Amino acid sequence: MNAPIGVIDSGVGGLTVAKQIMKVLPNETIYYIGDTARCPYGPRKKEEVLTFTRRLAKALEKKHIKLLVIACNTATAVALDDLRERMSIPVVGVINAGARAAIKSTKEHKIVVLATEGTIKSGAYERALLSLNSRAKIIPLACPTFVPLVESGEYEGQFAFDLVANGLKPLKNKSFDTVILGCTHYPMIQHHIEKVVGPHVTVLSSAEETAKEVEELLNYNNLLQTTEKNPQHIFYTTGSVPIFRTIAQNWLEIEQLDVRKIHL
Ligand code: DGL
Repeated sequence: MNAPIGVIDSGVGGLTVAKQIMKVLPNETIYYIGDTARCPYGPRKKEEVLTFTRRLAKALEKKHIKLLVIACNTATAVALDDLRERMSIPVVGVINAGARAAIKSTKEHKIVVLATEGTIKSGAYERALLSLNSRAKIIPLACPTFVPLVESGEYEGQFAFDLVANGLKPLKNKSFDTVILGCTHYPMIQHHIEKVVGPHVTVLSSAEETAKEVEELLNYNNLLQTTEKNPQHIFYTTGSVPIFRTIAQNWLEIEQLDVRKIHL
């Protein structure tokens, strides 16, 4: 079916999921909204995150998307059930996907969840992980400094590494074999996180599992774009177009992106 897949996030983080969807489903068109003007969602009240997320979903619904991906853990924790009830298209979140990836990978069942304050407080990862493996030992850690770092675009170099290392200090002397990047912004600083936790720990995100789920759902609902085409993705931001464009072009490794301002 020749309609776009909608992807939403508080900012540039959802691009880590969009990239994986593009890889798995190269013929599909993506319409993305990053609510950069209101980012970060992590420290905000649940009600506020719910209102913002509904707004993003509505804006894409008007553009006739065929499936919505909430590519934001904070928004998934608060708004997944709500949007599934309200919308007549399939809605995919990222938390169950992240939990599945971690349970598949862990051998010792000791899993660190790195996420925003909102996601950690919601307990959504604990619930998802324990429903898959009741023996899992979960170490949750909120990392409030990471999202502003990524949104600034200045996430390479010594300053960025030091900030990440500092945020991960509470993990010192803890035993674990798997880290879930429970915020879609964190894959952009995955190299720093891996350097801090060391080579014996597997660091993974929800992106691959989410993309697989999108493919399965489109297939199941007969919504796949079956003919080969050159998709014209559109990226909307509520914030700065040049900053969004620089981060998105770097991350997606696409030279010319259609980035537009949207007012919500
Ligand atoms: N990227 C989002 C997440 O996965 C939100 C980050 C934020 O806005 O605080 O949680």
